[in-house]
Amino acid sequence: MTAGRMLWAAAGLAALGGCSPEPSGGDVAMSQTAGQAFYLDYCSACHGRTGRGDGPAAPGLSVRPADLTRLSERNGGTFPILPVMGRIYGYTQGRGGGGGPMPEFGPLLDGDTMLVDLGDGVLTPTPVKLIALVNHLGALQPD
Ligand code: HEC
Repeated sequence: MTAGRMLWAAAGLAALGGCSPEPSGGDVAMSQTAGQAFYLDYCSACHGRTGRGDGPAAPGLSVRPADLTRLSERNGGTFPILPVMGRIYGYTQGRGGGGGPMPEFGPLLDGDTMLVDLGDGVLTPTPVKLIALVNHLGALQPD
């Protein structure tokens, strides 16, 4: 089972719990395509289309973009959902205070939320677009 599918399972459980508002399974499936589209629009310039950190903007940066296909490998084989979400959304580096070249995407990802257990046993209201994007990153991890 890939990390991406584990997150799908978590999202499915939250939906079964009758929390609202939550998209139907079909809407979430659609949002995986949305996650890929968001990635290609906002991430691939630095991280590359396949996530290896080799996008066209990478050579001009002071810091090399992370290889996003190795997130699980570098975390002992488990996809680090919470740190990855925090890194993308921006709060782990303190809004605007990161200093690295990667922008924070919180404002772009805000919108509809759904309640998801992100692995800590707590149902957390999470932007649907962020879930879709992180599912796409999960799918980039080799089996
Ligand atoms: C302007 C270039 C740039 C863009 C655009 C960008 N990143 Fe990054 N990203 C970086 C750099 C450079 C790093 C490594 C240094 C750091 O962590 O700040 C990084 C680090 C990361 C990390 C942390 C990886 C780790 O090993 O902990 C994640 C996750 C990530 N990026 C995801 C994304 C996603 C998803 C997007 C699109 C929504 C995105 N990035 C857009 C430059 C970028």
